Amino acid sequence: MNISILAAIAQALVAPGKGLLAMDESTGTCNARFAAQGLPQTVEVRRAYRELLVTTPGLGEGISGAILFDETIRQRTTAGVSFVEILQRAGIIPGIKVDLGAHELAGFPGEQVTEGLDGLRPRLAEYVQLGARFAKWRAVLTIGHDRPSRAGLAANAHALARYAALCQATGLVPIVEPEVLLTGPHSLARCAAVTEEVLHEVFAQLRTQGVALEGMLLKPSMVLAGADCPQQPTTAQVADATVACLLRTVPAAVPGVAFLSGGQSPEDATRHLAAMHERFAGRLPWALTFSFGRALQQPALAIWAGQAANVPAAQQALLARVHSNAVAVGAGSVV
Ligand code: 13P
Repeated sequence: MNISILAAIAQALVAPGKGLLAMDESTGTCNARFAAQGLPQTVEVRRAYRELLVTTPGLGEGISGAILFDETIRQRTTAGVSFVEILQRAGIIPGIKVDLGAHELAGFPGEQVTEGLDGLRPRLAEYVQLGARFAKWRAVLTIGHDRPSRAGLAANAHALARYAALCQATGLVPIVEPEVLLTGPHSLARCAAVTEEVLHEVFAQLRTQGVALEGMLLKPSMVLAGADCPQQPTTAQVADATVACLLRTVPAAVPGVAFLSGGQSPEDATRHLAAMHERFAGRLPWALTFSFGRALQQPALAIWAGQAANVPAAQQALLARVHSNAVAVGAGSVV
């Protein structure tokens, strides 16, 4: 493991004024989003949509890295150029989702553990050959009466740490993504307590597995009240609760934290991120940025509607979201 190379990649991914584009939806998830828009769910339509995303002119001005899916990292534009090469030309670092999804945790109904450790080493080596420089693994934790259980916390944190160690041994920067889901009626305080517990467990396991903190990134969910909670917090409350939780749990050696959007509206996700920067500028030990999927893509997907004629307008919609988030994390500000 060459920590200085990993650290340089991690730092480039969280460079000031930039964030990541998550476009690594699995085939099932991508198809579900297409179905919601009335789009055909075929490999060619998925390819055409991903071509729209990666060929967006000027994307690299606000995007440092793009997370691809196994199908996507192997695909090419209509003109025959690989997506990896298109990204590299734009100054965007290609990355890859390597987990195989969340599955039921045996003995703990309603809880999930992410699978994909078996056979991971050769898969990672292939992704390096294909041009990936970083990877992503998502763990899913649900807030409920007795949830997440100790078993759920431990199993997911252990898998994240095993994955991260394997990535670093293969020369990939691991993005460690423990997502506490937005679904449910829980309060902001409950989400804060659960997220703190999750992150403590994750960093304990990362230490046990010998992961170099300088060569990784954290991709957490923001601390929010559940979608069904009648008392929704203010933007400032979300910013304060999220940063407080991170300050308690994320070691200063980690180069950056890049949030998922998790089902927030694009505007809410940006507003929350901007508030964290406004309220804590210059007082955080790590870079704080975005690694959004839906909050970047949603407007573009809706405008595209599968029509070639709509590609430029859809790309403008993507750029608009990228620009708003880049400004939220300090793009254009005088350093
Ligand atoms: P969302 O921003 O849509 O939550 O997606 C980010 C992601 O990478 C989920 O794994």
